[in-house]
Amino acid sequence: MVKAGLEDIVAASSSICDVNGTEGRLIYCGYDISDLADNSTFEEVVYLLWYGRLPTKTELETLTKGLQANRRIPEDVVKAMKAYPKDALPMEVLRTAVSMLSMYDKEAEDKGREPNVRKAIRLTAQIPTIVAYWDLIRNGKEVVAPKEDCSLSHNFLYMLSGGKEPDAVAVRSLDIALILHADHELNASTFAARVAAATETDIYSAITAAIGTLKGPLHGGANQEVIKMLLEIGSLANVEPHLEKMFAEHKKVMGFGHRVYKTTDPRAANLRRMSEALGKQMGDTKWFDMSAKIEEIVKADKGLNANVDFYSASVYYMLGIPTDLYTPIFAISRMSGWAAHVLEQYANNRLIRPRADYTGERNLKYVAIDKR
Ligand code: ACO
Repeated sequence: MVKAGLEDIVAASSSICDVNGTEGRLIYCGYDISDLADNSTFEEVVYLLWYGRLPTKTELETLTKGLQANRRIPEDVVKAMKAYPKDALPMEVLRTAVSMLSMYDKEAEDKGREPNVRKAIRLTAQIPTIVAYWDLIRNGKEVVAPKEDCSLSHNFLYMLSGGKEPDAVAVRSLDIALILHADHELNASTFAARVAAATETDIYSAITAAIGTLKGPLHGGANQEVIKMLLEIGSLANVEPHLEKMFAEHKKVMGFGHRVYKTTDPRAANLRRMSEALGKQMGDTKWFDMSAKIEEIVKADKGLNANVDFYSASVYYMLGIPTDLYTPIFAISRMSGWAAHVLEQYANNRLIRPRADYTGERNLKYVAIDKR
C-alpha cells in the first residue's frame, strides 16, 4: 500500500540540510538555523550550502563579489518582460524569465561543478533583479540598474523602490528571512529540481521546474494566501469569528500544518519574533497581534502549528513589500538551496525514476469505436 504524497519516503542521501520534525530543529550543513539567523548573512549561508562549510573571509568576499557583479539581466530579457501582460503573476514572470536566461548564457549546457557554480551565482544574482524589475515594469516605472556595492537584500530593496536607499532594519530583516528560507531538504520544489537535474538537463531547466513547483499554494504560494487572509480579517476582534467560519466551511488555514514538522517549525518561531519586533519598532503591532491570535486558535482547535509561511507574511507586509511578491522572495532565497541540491545531484547522479502501484484494469480487449 503506497502512502500518498511520498510521505516519510527517503528519496536521496544529502549532506546539505536536516529537518528534525519531532524536535522542530533545522540545520544547514551542521549549523542550527537560529544560530545562522542571529549571526550570519544570506551570502555566507549561500556559501555554506554550496560548499558544505563556512567560508573564510577571502572566500566570502570572492562569492559576494561574484553575486554583486552578475546582477544585471540581458537587455533582451528586460525587453521581453516589458511585453508581458501587465497582470501576469510575478511567479509566472519569474518562471518564464529564468527559463529565458539560459538562452543568453554561453555556458548553459556546460557540465561539471565549476561551470554550474558560475551559473548558480548568475541565477542567484539575477533572480532578485527579475522580481524587482517586474514590479517596476507592471507599474509603468523605469527599471534601475542594480547596485554592486551592497548585499543582495540591500540591492533588492533598493531596486524594488525604484532606486531609494533602504533602511538598515528592513535590510537586516529581509536578510534574516532569506537565511531562514534558504533550504529545506527534499521539499516539493527542491525535489522537482533534483528530478530534473537527475536527467542531466541543465541547471536553468531544473530551476525553472523548481520555480513552477514553489508557486503552488500548498508550498511557497501559501505566504501570499496568509496575507490575503490577514487583510480579509482586518482586525484583532474579527479573528475569532473569521476562523470559526473557516472551520465551519472546512477551509484550510494557510500557513499552518507541515508534512514533516509535528511541532513548531523553527523558521516560524524565528519569524514570529521578527514580526513582533518589527511591529514594536514601527509602533503598530496589529498584524503581529492578529497573527498570534490566529496561531493560538488554530493550535487549540486543530492542533496545527504555524509553518514558515505564516509569520513571513506579516514581516513582509510591515516591510512594505507588495503582497504578490512574497512567493518570489521565497524563490530569491530558495534559489540557494535549489542550486546546492542540483550540484549535489550532478556530483553523484542516477536518474530518479520511481514506480507507480498500478490500480487500473488489465487484459482488456480493444473494441472498435463504433461498437462502444
Ligand atoms: N488548515 C486546516 N486543516 C489542515 C491544514 C490547514 N492548514 N493542514 C492540514 N490540515 C488537516 C488536513 O485537512 C488533514 O485533515 P484530515 O485528516 O481530517 O483530512 C490533516 O490536517 C492532515 O493534513 P494533510 O493535508 O494530509 O497533510 P499533508 O502533509 O499532506 O500537507 C500541507 C501538508 C500541504 C503543508 C498542509 O498542512 C497544508 O495544506 N497547509 C496549508 C498550506 C501551507 O501553509 N503550505 C505551506 C507549507 S510550508 C512550505 O511549503 C514552505
